[in-house]
Amino acid sequence: MKLALVGYGKMGRMIESLAPEFGAEVVLRLDEFNNAGSVMMTPGHFAAVDVAIEFTTPHTAVANIHKLADLGIPTVVGTTGWLDQLDTVTAYVQQKNGALVWSPNFSIGVNLFFAAVKQLASRMQDYPEYGAWAWEIHHAAKKDAPSGTLKMAVEQMRRGGYTHPVDESASRAGAVPGTHEIGFDSPADTITLRHTARGREGFARGALKAAQWIQGKSGVYEFGEVFFG
Ligand SMILES: NC(=O)c1ccc[n+]([C@@H]2O[C@H](COP(=O)([O-])OP(=O)(O)OC[C@H]3O[C@@H](n4cnc5c(N)ncnc54)[C@H](OP(=O)(O)O)[C@@H]3O)[C@@H](O)[C@H]2O)c1
Repeated sequence: MKLALVGYGKMGRMIESLAPEFGAEVVLRLDEFNNAGSVMMTPGHFAAVDVAIEFTTPHTAVANIHKLADLGIPTVVGTTGWLDQLDTVTAYVQQKNGALVWSPNFSIGVNLFFAAVKQLASRMQDYPEYGAWAWEIHHAAKKDAPSGTLKMAVEQMRRGGYTHPVDESASRAGAVPGTHEIGFDSPADTITLRHTARGREGFARGALKAAQWIQGKSGVYEFGEVFFG
């Protein structure tokens, strides 16, 4: 599998270091400087590329996804902060008969956490005496807040049938790779579900797994639905 890394920051570099374990070779690396104005996103530069993995910034991801669909390159997108445009992006990729896997969080553990959140929230619907919250903390350089993962955790609560208010909050400090917590509190007790990432390796492994899976397919898929749905 020949990979293009669209975005060569912390995630791009981690993916490159793990790629050989997945039978993958990185043949193209794009960052903000060599790809300004999407100049590198041409058929010539992508001639040898099987799959692109995109981890860039909230304001560049959508244009990159569209360009990759134009080029007919199956794409894995991990960038967060653009999901309010998911409907537009989905329509664009489908119209081009392209292939896309997206997720605000490619870690296996977080996707198991989502399943637990959905199930607990479904039970808590019948106990309105419990107040609910959703909280996350990330390193100070993270650009979007609250994280796409937190929004997805709350979405899982809603999918589980939870209709009561959920107080959402985010902290940005230090070097934290990502901690997400869902809690319920009553006069008698507190229930918390918490996922704590120890580093970026889990995200990178999930993205590489998604890259293997998307080859030869068309359509738009959410990672959690494909592997844990
Ligand atoms: N889904 C998940 O599992 C997951 C996990 C971790 C992070 N994320 C998200 O992934 C994104 C990237 O995270 P990160 O920690 O890798 O950030 P990062 O270290 O800031 O890296 C972002 C990279 O994107 C590059 N870039 C910016 N504009 C570009 C463009 N137009 N074309 C190509 N590359 C461009 C930047 O280039 P320069 O270096 O030249 O500025 C940088 O190398 C964030 O949105 C983060 O929230 C998702």
